[in-house]
Amino acid sequence: MIEYKGLYIIYLISAIFFILAIKGLASPKTARRGNDFGIFGMALAVLATLLVLPTRNDLGILLAGGMAAALGTFMANKVKLTNLPQMIAFLNGVGGLSSVLIGMAQILRQMTYSLDAIIGVVIGCIAFSGSIVAFFKLQGVKINRFPLMNFLNAVLFLAVWVHFALYHKMQDAYLLLAATFLFGISITLPVGGADMPIVISVLNAFSGFAASGIGFSLSNVALIITGALVGASGTILAVVMTKAMNRSVIEVFFKAVKTSATNGAAGKVAHAGSVEDAAFLMQNANRVIIVPGYGMAAAGAQHALKSMASLLEDKYHVEVKFAIHPVAGRMPGHMNVLLAEAKVDYDKVFSLEEINPDFETADVAYVIGANDITNPLAKTDPSSPLYGMPILEVSKAKTVFFVKRSLGAGYSGVDNPLFFADNTLMLYGDAKTVTQEIISML
Ligand code: TAP
Repeated sequence: MIEYKGLYIIYLISAIFFILAIKGLASPKTARRGNDFGIFGMALAVLATLLVLPTRNDLGILLAGGMAAALGTFMANKVKLTNLPQMIAFLNGVGGLSSVLIGMAQILRQMTYSLDAIIGVVIGCIAFSGSIVAFFKLQGVKINRFPLMNFLNAVLFLAVWVHFALYHKMQDAYLLLAATFLFGISITLPVGGADMPIVISVLNAFSGFAASGIGFSLSNVALIITGALVGASGTILAVVMTKAMNRSVIEVFFKAVKTSATNGAAGKVAHAGSVEDAAFLMQNANRVIIVPGYGMAAAGAQHALKSMASLLEDKYHVEVKFAIHPVAGRMPGHMNVLLAEAKVDYDKVFSLEEINPDFETADVAYVIGANDITNPLAKTDPSSPLYGMPILEVSKAKTVFFVKRSLGAGYSGVDNPLFFADNTLMLYGDAKTVTQEIISML
């Protein structure tokens, strides 16, 4: 395969398109174009590979490829935006599994020990089993682990790995597979809800590195380059997110998840506001900062939010900004995607570092379906699973409106003492309905 010079060149062109795709995806303005580059690069690589296959089973390949493409298209069209993280976990897992299958086929066919194939199989298998756990955790399924699970599995994994590396016995390949599968499960199980985005990025990087390993064993340049790109970008994303959440990867995977947290507001009473209050205060404000979170996505309130912001700006000359926390919602960029869909001007959307100093001079913080990303326990309570995560400093605004259906906790399961603060007014109800009611008041 590798001797075809033309194939190298086509793979190189694909790789350039993949790099352009990743670059494009870095900003909402260019994300759509980036996606198109990615699709083109992948189509080119698949086509080139099909054209130079040494042994042909056209019908089998077309059938398998067609079915997979139909399934992927169906899933992508059907999936709700709020369930996208689960789909990403699923696709990471499938990527890892394909590396496992190809690597095992390679090892069994050659009946020899091949380090690059083994590396691909091991990393792919961790990505696969870890992604299964991540999928169920994101789906809200509570999974328990038993004490010493990480330790026992690490010992088992290392023992089999060392035995295989020393003696190269083929039957150990299956044992290694089983041990790696367990290991992937056991390192993902203890991870707390708030850290899941980091885990998804790490598993994504793993599936890329696995593909790269398999690429080496098959001497396939496209797999090597693409796998390395996925691995590197997943790693960078994980590092960026750990920084954003003030965690380290070691803490995420190996520090036992904290399940209880003190409720700094026990015994206090939350003040309920009304849509009339919200409309009155916002139309008379100089500055309003909107803080969207998962509930905004769940309610599909982005279009109503855009209408409310436009009304405040055009009719009442209020300065309106949107504040985005790096882990708001359930996937990286979740809020940006929804606001872009509602045609909110990119120049009005600010990151945590950019917007935090502005809360002090804001008259109103309109927190819509967000919770954990504003929770001050992240700064004050070392026993909280949120501890160390930077927050949006909404409490510094003159008045804070929390639009949500109850005083219930967010993803991390931690109560938010801010609901009981003197300058907070709760607007109970569905995010979209409440916002639409405010629009009719305005
Ligand atoms: P959360 O802390 O999960 O809070 C969302 C709030 O929305 C809930 O408290 C809920 O309260 C409210 N809500 C749900 N449906 C609603 C609706 N229809 N209308 C109005 N409110 C509704 O969200 P957040 O502040 O965006 O924080 C994100 C959390 O998810 C973090 O802990 C983060 O670590 C985690 N996470 C993030 C990601 C990524 S990458 N973004 C991935 C996985 C996990 P009620 O039930 O009272 O309405």
